Amino acid sequence: MRPDSFASRLLSWYRQHGRHDLPWQHNPTPYRVWISEIMLQQTQVVKVLDYYPRFMARFPTVADLAAASQDEVLQLWAGLGYYTRARNLHRCAQAVMALGGEFPVGSQSEMEALPGIGRSTAAAIRAFSTGQRATILDGNVKRVLTRYAGIEGWPGQKTIEAQLWQLAEDLTPQQDVAAYTQAIMDLGATLCKPRQPACPRCPHQQQCVAYATDQTACLPTPKPK
Ligand code: ADE
Repeated sequence: MRPDSFASRLLSWYRQHGRHDLPWQHNPTPYRVWISEIMLQQTQVVKVLDYYPRFMARFPTVADLAAASQDEVLQLWAGLGYYTRARNLHRCAQAVMALGGEFPVGSQSEMEALPGIGRSTAAAIRAFSTGQRATILDGNVKRVLTRYAGIEGWPGQKTIEAQLWQLAEDLTPQQDVAAYTQAIMDLGATLCKPRQPACPRCPHQQQCVAYATDQTACLPTPKPK
């Protein structure tokens, strides 16, 4: 990795300032990582910290989750919201059991075929649980990259989204992919926030197009009305 690359600056920042002791970062099996990623999709880390240990205590394995009733899964989910996530979680556990009980983490397309697992979530599970090179693009990462590269246009638009995926893939390093993936999520969550980003503390301040052109407040471009 070139010492002046996006990934290497991000990783140095992450080693000093990132989050390293979240429960799902210990023993990051595909099952443990999957549950955390689904919970974290529309929910703050602090709230997930309250639910995750209880959920894992009741359903320690994908087999336990698959064997439960949907009612019980929904009860443990109560309060997290977006209940489609819980129903898909249960269906996905049953799909994994039908595949023999192991997540197909070697294959991006087989992961994406599972209920409730999209392209970015599939990549996050693969990167965190196996360290394979896989590229994520969630809301936080879209914000980081639109600002970094000065990409104008609503990121929900197909052409813009395709451009962002390409950039995200180009920036993903060959090594340290698990740390890199957590690092870019953390940068978006803690510094490159939607409002009042903390640019003076950002490892990419010198390279960021939005910072240089004073566009952090208008990027990413909002959805057209
Ligand atoms: N949001 C989605 N995935 C996350 C993760 N692994 N850590 C923190 N926030 C996240």
